[in-house]
Amino acid sequence: EPLKPLVIKTSSGEDEVDDGRKKVTIFFGTQTGTAEGFAKDDYAADDDEYEEKLKKEDVAFFFLATYGDGEPTDNAARFYKWFTEGDDRGEWLKNLKYGVFGLGNRQYEHFNKVFKIESFFVCTGAQRLVHVGLGDDDQCIEDDFTAWYFIYTFDALYICFFFFFLLSSVLLFSCRREALWPELDTLLREEGDTAVTPYTAAVLEYRVSIHSSEDALNQKNLANGNGHAAVFDAQHPYRANVAVRRELHTPESDRSCTHLEFDIAGSGLTYETGDHVGVLSDNLNETVEEALRLLDMPPDTFFSLHSDKEDGTPISSSLPPTFPPCNLKTALTRYACLLSSPKKDEYSKWVVESQRSLLEVMAEFPSAKPPLGVFFAAVAPRLQPRFYSISSSPKIAETRIHVTCALVYEKMPTGRIHKGVCSTWMKSAVPYEKSENCCSAPIFVRQSNFKLPSDSKVPIIMIGPGTGLAPFRGFLQERLSLVESGVELGPSVLFFGCRNRRMDFIYEEELQRFLESGALSELSVAFSREGPTKEYVQHKMMDKASDIWNMISQGAYVYVCGDAKGMARDVHRSLHTIAQEQGSMDSTKAESFVKNLQMSGRYLRDVW
Ligand code: 2AM
Repeated sequence: EPLKPLVIKTSSGEDEVDDGRKKVTIFFGTQTGTAEGFAKDDYAADDDEYEEKLKKEDVAFFFLATYGDGEPTDNAARFYKWFTEGDDRGEWLKNLKYGVFGLGNRQYEHFNKVFKIESFFVCTGAQRLVHVGLGDDDQCIEDDFTAWYFIYTFDALYICFFFFFLLSSVLLFSCRREALWPELDTLLREEGDTAVTPYTAAVLEYRVSIHSSEDALNQKNLANGNGHAAVFDAQHPYRANVAVRRELHTPESDRSCTHLEFDIAGSGLTYETGDHVGVLSDNLNETVEEALRLLDMPPDTFFSLHSDKEDGTPISSSLPPTFPPCNLKTALTRYACLLSSPKKDEYSKWVVESQRSLLEVMAEFPSAKPPLGVFFAAVAPRLQPRFYSISSSPKIAETRIHVTCALVYEKMPTGRIHKGVCSTWMKSAVPYEKSENCCSAPIFVRQSNFKLPSDSKVPIIMIGPGTGLAPFRGFLQERLSLVESGVELGPSVLFFGCRNRRMDFIYEEELQRFLESGALSELSVAFSREGPTKEYVQHKMMDKASDIWNMISQGAYVYVCGDAKGMARDVHRSLHTIAQEQGSMDSTKAESFVKNLQMSGRYLRDVW
């Protein structure tokens, strides 16, 4: 890295280079390591000696996570107290140039509370280099960080980088990071300092080998097997056939929800009720065709990617993992993330507000044809797995993983229809009950802690509207198998919500059977679009407040699954109100009651 003129100071004596030049110090307040990770991306200084250090600095960045009830993290507490409560922050701060990035989660009441440190800086007259960044872990904190960083460095960018910035956040990251240093460099350079290393932008790029057709044939045979890994994960998934697929909504509905069953018989892949399945579905054919057209290369170009140079030295640790040699069409279908579109305003209005996809950007700049090594490294890096709460139980479906997936289909501001890659694939997947030539996708299981109580007599309260029903179908299958083998069950209540019983009351018959068998004691359904007013699951909960309170008092577990921003938050408030009203508590007591429920593992959420 061309960092010569900059000296990054760290708290460990060994790394510290003190040659009299200006310094940048990066402070981070971290509990689980995320803030530390971001800070270290910038070559961080792990630092507890705030007072002494800060007084000596010219430029300082602060990465501060908010924890619990809006408190700073343990390692930042002392600094925070000193900085916000002390009275010896004097003249010297006027010369400090600073930046603050907060890490928090909008789901919590005290979102990024510690960023208020900024107001203390403002009072002291220190010079703010960049607006305060508010990272939201509920969305994508990495994107927030990128956006914050990007805005900071935007002024320093040369126009020739602009096109690349539009292409992808990964490329953006590499250019952006490169761009930070020259700017800081200028900021910190002493007059007459000549020891400046020329700055060059680096674009992440694989070494590419294009293979002859004979080579291709041999390599292909090698690459085709279904890896029998001991442990299946995102890097070593199992390619599972689709056994069953059916639509869960009736034709009256203008939306779609797919029930899909992956066959895992004989694979060695196992799961537990409540786990998630990661699915690496193919890109849609139309998307692949468009990418081929824009890259303007033959679809049968057979190639391999290498993350080392010919002499064996690694190119960069930031390169995504390579994939087996294959032809371009297969690579685009299976591995490239082609529809990524920035969700926040890190790029520019042109991309963000219009939510242009990568392919739309390429279509607008037809003369730009990134080479394959750049395209797969930085422009369209690996297609990411989509996670679904498994909607079956191995007790009933040992050799199948069931998925309940709502179709993602949205109109974008440019007029393009955004079709969710995996949900669209699932909606039209050909199952082997229909054809021997069925569809398959690489899958793996991710364990979760969304589990039934180990004692089956403990009462359970399940809240899951829409596809939030998925894990509860698994729970109920498990309870059904227990009932059938004569095990005694505690009471269970399910709050489900949908728009209209004639359109999207998914798994209605199965739920009836769970009721009849005793696997489910009570079903309460909120129909949001049947009557003159919206009725949601939380309204049903309030109707049954005293029953819920009785169950909780008897040790019930509360489970919530579904949309995090609207539903789960409203349900959380309802629980709070129930505790307050039914348990005759004041608001603070009710809050700590719900928090205790959560801490003791009796209030579990599987939300997205
Ligand atoms: P709506 O679409 O009529 O607003 C499953 O998606 C169900 O969840 C639908 O009936 C949907 O209603 C409902 N829903 C939407 N927002 C919700 C919220 N904040 N709390 C609870 N249910 C909600």
